[in-house]
Amino acid sequence: MTRGRRGVAVVGAGYWGPNLARNFAASDDWDLRAVCDLDLARARSVADRHAGAEASDDLTAVLARDDVDAVAIATPARTHLGVAGQALARGKHVLVEKPLAHSGDAGRAMVSLAAEHGLVLMADHTYCYTPAVLKMRELIADGALGDILFVDSVRINLGLVQPDVDVFWDLAPHDLSILDFVLPGGLRPTAVAASGADPLGAGKACLGYLNLPLVGGAMAHVQVNWLSPTKIRQMVIGGTRRTLVWDDLNPSQRLSVYDRGVDLTQQAVDTVDRRQASISYRLGDTWAPALAEHEPLAAVVTELAAAIDEGRPARTDGAAALRVLDVLEAADASLAAGGARIGTAPAAAPARIGVPA
Ligand SMILES: NC(=O)c1ccc[n+]([C@@H]2O[C@H](COP(=O)([O-])OP(=O)(O)OC[C@H]3O[C@@H](n4cnc5c(N)ncnc54)[C@H](O)[C@@H]3O)[C@@H](O)[C@H]2O)c1
Repeated sequence: MTRGRRGVAVVGAGYWGPNLARNFAASDDWDLRAVCDLDLARARSVADRHAGAEASDDLTAVLARDDVDAVAIATPARTHLGVAGQALARGKHVLVEKPLAHSGDAGRAMVSLAAEHGLVLMADHTYCYTPAVLKMRELIADGALGDILFVDSVRINLGLVQPDVDVFWDLAPHDLSILDFVLPGGLRPTAVAASGADPLGAGKACLGYLNLPLVGGAMAHVQVNWLSPTKIRQMVIGGTRRTLVWDDLNPSQRLSVYDRGVDLTQQAVDTVDRRQASISYRLGDTWAPALAEHEPLAAVVTELAAAIDEGRPARTDGAAALRVLDVLEAADASLAAGGARIGTAPAAAPARIGVPA
């Protein structure tokens, strides 16, 4: 289907905004009309790389432009609601960087505003557009792993200590949005327990651990850390049939599928039906699915255009982003309670949007 090109403005020209600007400018669906930042020099340095893009430090003026149909927001999390609220009120579709907002209330306000105005609100959960994560979702949906038993996700490196959010709100949205996308029922932990530490006295957790018991007895564990000199981006998802390992820093083999595991059979051992477990180990092959290489942000900007054209929620819509914020808020409550397990209201299973590979 050929679509008309639409106009977009990128708000925030710091670290991540230039990547959005580059992908919008390269897209057949979009014309990059403006780059806006409170710091005009920054806006200029990005806009100057893309013919036809205006640099501005005046969001109101950018939003008043009739040739701007959508706004992509790459400002700090605490400013997302303010910028997105103005954009939605001016009738613009909105793409917001992760996390959707700095609180559940702010996120819910954005989702209501978008619904009220009939506009697309999409979160940039970038990893949900990577070939590796798409393949993980496909393998799990096809039953290649069997029932999920555990998830272990590690995201550690020397990271920028963010001024407005802690390490959970900065890094865990990646892991949580991936789990929401690949697990058959979406991200629906029965509880959240968090422990965090601030060993340098930065005023917020700089490293931490999330424990998420899942429906059916499985457990997900997420480790995030801004202070690690080594960079690790790894997720292990174990199932009753197979286990997959995603190592995002190994481009020659990002995904490995292990046909190995533990089988446990319960047998009756006497007439009053006492039972005994018999354990055996499967030692099969390991294989690496072939993966295409493409920049996920190119798929993000295409998905935004498709959702607008087709009048449907985006793959990573406001509801998906709120499921992530719900877990982060429960993690805050757990941290405040010294790591206590905080029960979560079971979210409804997400509607599955068909995903082209
Ligand atoms: N998807 C990803 O993989 C990914 C990666 C990095 C960052 N991010 C997200 O992108 C967002 C921005 O992060 P960053 O690292 O680029 O931050 P940054 O601090 O480098 O840049 C933010 C920019 O926004 C500008 N700004 C602040 N308030 C503004 C406002 N009201 N109007 C216009 N401009 C404003 C600042 O002047 C600055 O230039 C965050 O939500 C972050 O979590 C996402």
